[in-house]
Amino acid sequence: MSARDAWKSKLGFILAAVGSAVGLGNIWKFPYIVGKNGGSAFIFIYLACIILAGIPILIAEIYIGKKSQLNPVGAFRFFQKGKFPFSIIGYIGVFCGIIILSYYSVITGWICHYLMLSFRGFSGTETEIKEIFTTMNATPWINIAWHTFVMGTIMLILVKGVRQGIEAVSKILMPMLGLLLFVLVCYSLTLDGMKEAWHFLTYPDFSKISGGSILEALGTSFFTLSLGMGAMITYGSYLKGDVSITKSAVQIASIDTLIAFLAGIVIFPIVFSNNLEPSAGPGLIFQTLPVLFAKMPGGHIVSVIFFSLVLFAAITSAISLLEVAVSFIIDEFKCSRIKAILIMGTVIWLLGILSAVSSWNVAGTPFLDLFDKIASCYMLPLGGLCTALVFGWAITTESKYKEIGTSAVTKTLLFAAKYVSPILLLVVFLKEIGLF
Ligand code: PHE
Repeated sequence: MSARDAWKSKLGFILAAVGSAVGLGNIWKFPYIVGKNGGSAFIFIYLACIILAGIPILIAEIYIGKKSQLNPVGAFRFFQKGKFPFSIIGYIGVFCGIIILSYYSVITGWICHYLMLSFRGFSGTETEIKEIFTTMNATPWINIAWHTFVMGTIMLILVKGVRQGIEAVSKILMPMLGLLLFVLVCYSLTLDGMKEAWHFLTYPDFSKISGGSILEALGTSFFTLSLGMGAMITYGSYLKGDVSITKSAVQIASIDTLIAFLAGIVIFPIVFSNNLEPSAGPGLIFQTLPVLFAKMPGGHIVSVIFFSLVLFAAITSAISLLEVAVSFIIDEFKCSRIKAILIMGTVIWLLGILSAVSSWNVAGTPFLDLFDKIASCYMLPLGGLCTALVFGWAITTESKYKEIGTSAVTKTLLFAAKYVSPILLLVVFLKEIGLF
């Protein structure tokens, strides 16, 4: 076995972790969920979830990975105490990553399809443009072809390894994403709907908030920070030497949140300038936006920039999802990297076909929705809860202080990881499984 791969630089790690965190969750899910939950009041709750559960658990995952230098299964086994096999938490994580990537790749395929269409430009009536999505989704071969393309691309990137694959790609795509986002934010600032959008995003209307919104905020914050399934454990396991875990976690979470917010700043003014409702649901970027791109001046260019940006974000997240499963096979079965990529890539590609054929369903629920529900509503909060419990209660405070430091901020976040996050996650999990 060759030596374990490691990041070339601290910046490389941060960019790769931000690449994992910033994805469809920020640009596709976050704006429509904010829209659905009435705007800024939801954002406040979301921020609270990021601070009380997101950052503490991000610290926990990076610590668990860095200390053990292992994949999630091996990492939890490394901290084993008592009889309960901690490795189960790692297995749940790897399984969850496989499920998420199987449909994430299909959605990333839709983005590729829309990017291609953007180069030609969107035109036609509103119904015709909205129809593009329905037709694409109802045509299995289009979905399967793009899904194959996406899986093939991320497999090729991973073959290059941690430094030359993940780190190198993140170092190119993340700054490009930042630049494209900046261009779009500048464009949105010139639109009439900006004032209304700003109001929507910053003046809270707490009457729209329900118990369900709080659950949704916590679930989304977990999904968007790539927590609860071992992605950050895996990336942390490629860290060596002297790196401040608290500082890295705060940086990753801040950039991720900023990008989600900026995605809202880009999308909502376009929506408001055209007198549309922000609560369009998952179809917001595939149906509402293209209609507007067809109407607005310069819409052609804006749509190319927009879908390129989403594609970059989605690819760097998909890479991290596959890397979890690949690192598991490499460590646990002493397998070569290429073999591990071929095995896991094929398994996930096959599973993804269930989501790509949108007419296949379980009791009326399409596989894509079913997998998203199982993974983000049940498995991620459960994974997060177990991670918080292991980190908070099975690892001694001294060893945490030694690795993470003893500044006031760190101590507060470690307190949150031990008491606040597990309680919050337990409540969410019990609520999701209908126990109260
Ligand atoms: N964080 C990614 C997003 O926001 C999704 C993701 C979840 C990636 C879990 C890795 C692990 O889209």
